[in-house]
Amino acid sequence: MMDHASSLGNKNKFLVFGCGFSGSYFAKTLKQFGCTVLESSRSKKKDPNCFVFDSTKNVVPSEEVFDGVTHILSCIPPDKNGNDPVLESLKSELKNLPLEWVGYLSTTGVYGNTQGEWVSEIDMPNPFQQRSQKRLNCEKEWLESDLPVQIFRLPGIYGPGRSTFEAIKNQKVRVIFKKDQVFSRIHVADIANAIIYLLKNKHSLKFHQIINVADDEPCSQIEVIQYCYDLLGLKMPKTILYKDAKNELSPMAQSFWIENRRVSNKLLCKTLGYKLIYKNYKEGLKNCFLNIQK
Ligand SMILES: NC(=O)c1ccc[n+]([C@@H]2O[C@H](COP(=O)([O-])OP(=O)(O)OC[C@H]3O[C@@H](n4cnc5c(N)ncnc54)[C@H](OP(=O)(O)O)[C@@H]3O)[C@@H](O)[C@H]2O)c1
Repeated sequence: MMDHASSLGNKNKFLVFGCGFSGSYFAKTLKQFGCTVLESSRSKKKDPNCFVFDSTKNVVPSEEVFDGVTHILSCIPPDKNGNDPVLESLKSELKNLPLEWVGYLSTTGVYGNTQGEWVSEIDMPNPFQQRSQKRLNCEKEWLESDLPVQIFRLPGIYGPGRSTFEAIKNQKVRVIFKKDQVFSRIHVADIANAIIYLLKNKHSLKFHQIINVADDEPCSQIEVIQYCYDLLGLKMPKTILYKDAKNELSPMAQSFWIENRRVSNKLLCKTLGYKLIYKNYKEGLKNCFLNIQK
């Protein structure tokens, strides 16, 4: 691990926009390597490494936040009009910085529904949901920004504090069966570490502008829920058929069930050589299980 630090160098200064679940994990991981990392939030925090950025209220960071910045990661979703909040508010500031790298967290929703077929970066995006069309629009804005952008397309993100265990605890779990339906997913630690791996090896690896970050084993939701109940030593509630559950699901939840795809990580893990920490949901959930026992 410390090897990453020395190669990344502590002369680098990172700004992480949108320090929610993935952004704060990335920031925390980088800090362990001795990098300077400043994190944005929409509300003021006591932490001196946090700054306020809220595109909807026009609250932008002060000039000193940008001093010496070399790297930026944006983890902020599109705004309600489908524009990118960071570019909308700060594009000209960013263009005046001597940036080495800009990362953008996107979603695999841009691929649309492939009826369970594998999707890779060479497939044409075919967004089905309106929110995925907005996302593709933001990707396009970043790609056309002339900044040194790298886009990471992510499936369902989980990790300690945000996993099926929390859903079970909060009684939010519905055991739904839909024939042949799979979901892809990624542990938050692999998002952070994959990005750091690519940065560390930037000079020896071919640069790819769009990279999927997913684990090796897309699978049904039931398998995941069953595995969590097994680890907890509890009996899984009974299964409901999707057609019977559908009308009780929120529009957002329904939207996840009407798309079915397997996200390929071959570019990241075979071509570029990143070794996943959690290669499948079992490995990742064991880590989450340890966390809930603390
Ligand atoms: N969750 C998933 O399963 C999933 C899957 C694929 C892709 N993604 C995408 O990947 C990215 C990271 O996901 P995540 O789940 O880690 O995100 P998250 O926890 O929801 O965090 C999003 C961050 O964006 C900030 N933000 C939102 N709107 C903003 C605005 N208008 N101005 C300034 N800041 C704003 C939030 O600020 P505050 O901290 O102040 O709330 C928060 O820190 C997001 O773009 C997400 O849509 C998520």
